Amino acid sequence: MSVEVSVVTEVTDELVGHLNRLLPQLSSSASVLTNEAVRDVVESDASTLLVATRDGALIGMLTLVVFAIPSGRRAWIEDVVVDESARGTGAGEALTRAAIDLARRRSVRSVDLTSRAARVEAHALYQKLGFVTRETNVYRFTL
Ligand SMILES: CC(C)(COP(=O)(O)OP(=O)(O)OC[C@H]1O[C@@H](n2cnc3c(N)ncnc32)[C@H](O)[C@@H]1OP(=O)(O)O)[C@@H](O)C(=O)NCCC(=O)NCCS
Repeated sequence: MSVEVSVVTEVTDELVGHLNRLLPQLSSSASVLTNEAVRDVVESDASTLLVATRDGALIGMLTLVVFAIPSGRRAWIEDVVVDESARGTGAGEALTRAAIDLARRRSVRSVDLTSRAARVEAHALYQKLGFVTRETNVYRFTL
């Protein structure tokens, strides 16, 4: 069966349970998601939470963040992860293509993302879809 990508509009215990199975596969230091935390994402005007399903099973997620700044409307892709059991079957590509389509429809000038060097599969995915490396430093101020 093919992968379906949809925008999350409703937060249920079941959804949060699925997301809590996915998130540790992205980051071992991620906190357990509460319904409130997921609602914060889903109800945000800036963030769009996309999920990939196959045969009704949730197998992946991605969040697109769109924001306006003086140089134009821009976007970030964050928290992309596909369940280990479903990798290599097109879900990551379907999620990323859906995010790019959404960004295009919202008149975004560019879509950025970061990915650690060790994430070989992710780099191959993004490059396949046309993302190019930017020569810039990424800084973080931790609060
Ligand atoms: C990166 C990730 C999201 C890819 O999802 P996926 O559903 O397995 O990827 P897809 O099946 O859609 O593959 C799409 C493309 O990604 C690349 N890719 C995926 N798996 C790969 C692998 N094991 N080796 C090399 N390239 C790979 C290929 O370019 C592939 O295209 P192809 O099938 O034409 O070769 C998934 O591996 C994952 O969740 N990894 C752990 C978390 C992570 O690294 N997230 C990204 C954070 S930036």
